[in-house]
Amino acid sequence: MDKTKIEVQAITTAQFRNDVLTGLNASPKYMQPKYFYDHQGDLLFQQIMEMEEYYLTNAEMEIFSKQSAAIADLITAENTPFDLIELGAGDATKSIHLLKELSQRKQEFTYLPIDISANVIAHLESHLPKELPGLVIKGLNGDYFEMLHQGTALSNRRKVVLFMGANIGNMELEEARDFCKELNTSLSTGDLLVIGFDLKKNPKQILAAYNDANGITAAFNLNLLHRINRELDADFDLQSFEHYASYDPESGACKSYLISLKDQFVRIGGENIVQFAVNEPVYMEISQKYALSEMEEMAISTGFHCTSRFFDENKYFVDAVWRVD
Ligand code: TRP
Repeated sequence: MDKTKIEVQAITTAQFRNDVLTGLNASPKYMQPKYFYDHQGDLLFQQIMEMEEYYLTNAEMEIFSKQSAAIADLITAENTPFDLIELGAGDATKSIHLLKELSQRKQEFTYLPIDISANVIAHLESHLPKELPGLVIKGLNGDYFEMLHQGTALSNRRKVVLFMGANIGNMELEEARDFCKELNTSLSTGDLLVIGFDLKKNPKQILAAYNDANGITAAFNLNLLHRINRELDADFDLQSFEHYASYDPESGACKSYLISLKDQFVRIGGENIVQFAVNEPVYMEISQKYALSEMEEMAISTGFHCTSRFFDENKYFVDAVWRVD
């Protein structure tokens, strides 16, 4: 098979409609967070990352801006060419520090960023080579659960996977475990995973990051209703839903919901009617927080071992390097 010819399947409207209806006809109702990221969603997410309350970005940025040389040392210790696969690359403002370090070393690598947002991939492919001349980049647009397999099928080189931004936290614990196991199976002994976890900390600080005073996170969640209205011809009244965030310090689960403010019917795409009761929640997303011991346990139970941990000064966040056993 010609490995350069692998086509990446973008999300179709039919799939979007199907996922939305499945989630809203379920009990309790839920939405799939991967649909947050249309053009407006990308912009709002950018604003979340710049928010006063949202400590995660600064913490991980500090790790990559100050400790990329040490991370690059671990990656290049083996001294053989590799593929650097980034799951959920976003605008790569953090990973660019690492890419710079790696580019300075005389080791050949291809950067394969994967993101659910087509805008994001197009942007990376046009801008990164300007900032880092000589960088070999091949963007993949799609669901990272699917793209992962395509990414690992592209070459026989050893793999270094970046999974930053506490994106692992956007999976339920058991889902995260399955994901890491699956990742482990598609990798080979000695391959590396650089993975970011948001750590358990003062509950008020965590909750504030997902319930900001200016309502940006609320707008981000409500934007999905906007998107459904526009792309699936629905008639959600955005005034009739409200963002609600909760954090449970025992389990570390931070969850966001949209709450229906009244009894209402919403029409989706002509013939589909969904009923919402007053105060009924629609579960939008989890941002799971971990204790260090829980992070290490996750590594061991999924076939990795944690070789190094990089913290920000406040120890809010950890980027761990896991090695496939
Ligand atoms: N993974 C990050 C987090 O959990 C970023 C993120 C994803 C996020 N979806 C979000 C942040 C929704 C705020 C709201 O924090």
